[in-house]
Amino acid sequence: MAAKRRQRSGARLAIGYPPCQSARLNRNFGTRDGSRKGFVIAVDGPAASGKGTIARALAKHFGLPHMDTGLLYRAVALKIWRWGGDPNIEFEALRACDNFGFDPDDEELRSEPVSRIASKISSYASVRDALLQRQRDFAAQEGGAVLDGRDIGTVIAPEADVKLFVTASAEVRAQRRVRELLERGMPGHYDDVLLDIRARDERDATREIAPLLQAPDADLLDTSDLTADQAIAEAIRLVEHKLANA
Ligand code: CDP
Repeated sequence: MAAKRRQRSGARLAIGYPPCQSARLNRNFGTRDGSRKGFVIAVDGPAASGKGTIARALAKHFGLPHMDTGLLYRAVALKIWRWGGDPNIEFEALRACDNFGFDPDDEELRSEPVSRIASKISSYASVRDALLQRQRDFAAQEGGAVLDGRDIGTVIAPEADVKLFVTASAEVRAQRRVRELLERGMPGHYDDVLLDIRARDERDATREIAPLLQAPDADLLDTSDLTADQAIAEAIRLVEHKLANA
């Protein structure tokens, strides 16, 4: 079943999508010491802002591998949920970070209980530390990468070539999340989802470790009044502008 789903969604790698064959990015980016490095795009933003859609589209457009870092937190959360562990106990959350593998197409990763646990455990410094290297290694791979999350431009890849901070009003984000849940056959009630999004924004923005922040050198992309296609087009324009001026 999972294998079938994977087939339907194309050859997805463990996390995200492989680069497309028609890679349009054939430049090498120089570092100050003259060595070459990959091109890294950091996409950050709050829940349901559209950052995942934009990051996937950028990865496809520029022929780069993509990591949805939220999935790492969700995978740890799912493990805790299945164990019947207590997400309020940091040590239990840390234990769930050991040797975890996951199927990115597992529908439960995106369920509301798992989202709530992910939001809780992502505020633990020990959990963030345990997941840090995996993300940095992904960003450091030859050729570069696109990563999306909350702290990519600030903590994971502060040297990223392009940083986008994708946002939208809480109401628009709640509408999108409800639509997404219903499309997945899961229950979604607008008022509950809006409350949850606001609570999650508050937790993301005020946590001590790696809070959700727009990096000073990030471009802001507000998608409140944009369709997905318009938001993607604008993101590509912003990246191409950076490329042209690199
Ligand atoms: O878009 P949404 O917030 O629903 O989910 P996500 O991006 O899949 O992230 C799941 C949870 O992990 C969220 O509660 C984030 O706060 C957290 N997260 C994080 O703390 N740092 C990241 N780099 C990515 C996600």
